[in-house]
Formats: sequence, structure tokens, C-alpha cells
Amino acid sequence: AAKAAGKLWFGTAADIPGTGEPEDFYYMQEFNNTHDFGEATPANIMKFMFVEPEQGVFNFTGPQEFLDVAHATDKYVRCHNLIWKSELPTWVTAPAVPWTNATLSAVIYEHVYNIVEHFGDQCYSWDVVNEAFADSPAGSYDNSSIFYDVIGPAYVVEAFQAATDAVRNNSLSVKLFYNDYNIEYLGNKSSAAQALVSDLKARDIQIDGVGLESHFIVGETPSQASQEANMRAFTALGVNVAVTELDVRLPLPPTAADETQQVADYYSTVAACVAVDGCIGVTVWDFDDTYSWIPSTFAGQGYGDLFLQPGGANTPLVKKAAYDGCLEAL
Ligand code: XIL
Repeated sequence: AAKAAGKLWFGTAADIPGTGEPEDFYYMQEFNNTHDFGEATPANIMKFMFVEPEQGVFNFTGPQEFLDVAHATDKYVRCHNLIWKSELPTWVTAPAVPWTNATLSAVIYEHVYNIVEHFGDQCYSWDVVNEAFADSPAGSYDNSSIFYDVIGPAYVVEAFQAATDAVRNNSLSVKLFYNDYNIEYLGNKSSAAQALVSDLKARDIQIDGVGLESHFIVGETPSQASQEANMRAFTALGVNVAVTELDVRLPLPPTAADETQQVADYYSTVAACVAVDGCIGVTVWDFDDTYSWIPSTFAGQGYGDLFLQPGGANTPLVKKAAYDGCLEAL
């Protein structure tokens, strides 16, 4: 249905066995269901702490396993992510010798360049920089990142420059994305991401798209019209957009009204992407409540994904009404 609607994919994030997760036959059966998922995003295994656990020591085994499993069912892979303030190794966050602008910039360059070069076109795209902007004041740089703390806003440009160099020196086709949340509707934070796109383009640095995370709350999801207007503000700059981390959480336990609203919230997000030519696809941030990041991150909340396992882990999955909401929107 997503392909018939002109999109590249409907996809999902996942942590899969072989990248540190327990075996779950039914979960993997659904992950491998090509009727449902044409794209996969590694939820964790490509993040900095896993890929470069010690300075200059790269571990590509888990990421390659993820790529191989996803490619076995012909999925695109949105490789995620290169530079982010979270899930960093301690050698970055607590260095033996304090970083200077020059030494930390060199770390960014080496990390980004080597990884983009190593995986090449196995990745459809890379989220080069993740979540650089703050919510308060909206659109300012997030100053709780060590990269911002030491380097300032230039760290974002440096990361994209390193990725661009790796692409150009190796004649790759991999796309380069900026990815963030609370940029799914017009406002100061979305404007900051748009300004970043324009700045990178003015510097002849590659930026192909912006990921709209879309971690929504039931009943507070931006309207379809609002999401469309925001997507068009990006595509007007000459970049694609993708919905990259869609889930719709709610206070547990769900009421019947919550469930109805959740269907509408999934629908409006998928329908917005369908309506905008430059929106290339929708990815949910995992598909099974059993493995959702929501309950451990937002206390008392959950039920945000498209499937659940009534019998618990490693038992058959059941589609929720939200699944049909997505399908209807395509
Ligand atoms: C989350 C993972 O799902 C969790 O397992 C992990 O503990 C923390 O990170 N925005 C992002 C994702 O870009 O990388 C985050 O993933 C969720 C928020």
C-alpha cells in the first residue's frame, strides 16, 4: 500500500537478536513480514557507544548483522545515527584529557567519515546528526551535548562535512539526513532545522532530507494539515522528509476513547506523508508494545505501537486498530 501511494516504504525500527536482544520467534516473523515492512532502522546498534566503544576501535559486527537481516527481506535501511548527545561511550563523555575544539572535532570527523565509508550504499541514508536543537528556548542549540559544549554549533556542520567527504570520495549514493523531534509542526524548532538545511546547502555540504521523529501523544498529535504544512516548508528547500520514529503513547491502561483517538493520530500522520510528494516514507519506532521504548522512558505510559503480544514475549502478535488506521491512510 505504501508503494502504491508513491512512497519508498512503510518501515520500522527494531533491536533484533544478534544485536543484543533475546530471541522472539513471533517478533522476528513480523519484522520479516514483507507485506508490512519495507524499511528497517536499527534502534540502537549503530549508535556511537556500540560502533566506536574505544577511540579508533570500530565494531561493525552488530550493525552488519542488522543490515544483513534487513536486506534478506529486501528492506531499505535508514542507518541511525552518527552524532548525538546520548548513547556515547565514556571515552567521549568523560575523557582522560579534556577535549579541545580541535581534538573533539577530529573525533567527530573520524567517527563519521569511517562509518559512512565502511557501510557505503548498504545504508539508504544516515541520520548524520540527531536532535541538535532544544525545546526551551525552542530552536536554540541543545547545550547539554558535549559536542555543543566544546565546539559550539559548528559541530553540526563538521559532522555533515565529514559525511559529505566520505560520500564524495567514495562516489556513494547514501543520503544524508538531519533527524529531530518537535519539528513535526511549524514553530521555532522546525524553523531552526530549516535554517540548518539552508546553511548546509549554502556551504555545498550534502543534506538530502530531514527526519521528523513523530513521537506523539494520543490526542496531542499535530493535525494532518499542520504536519503537511510543515513537511512542505522543508521540501520547499529542496530536501526530502521522512516520518522516522512514529509512535503514539497514552496513559496506561488505554481506554476505548484512547484507542479510537490513537487510530486517528496514526491516520493523520501517515496521510500527511502520503499527501506530500517529498515525504518518502513512514517508519514506526518499533511495532510491538513488548519492545517499545515508551514505558521505560515515560513513566505510566505505553500502548504506543501497532501490535501487542497478549501472551507476553515470544507469543503471537495481534494487530491493533492503529494498524488499520495506517493502512487506511495509504
Ligand atoms: C531510543 C531507543 O529506542 C532506546 O532503546 C534507547 O534506550 C534510547 O534511544 N530519538 C531517537 C532514538 O532518535 O534514537 C531514540 O531511541 C528515541 C528518541
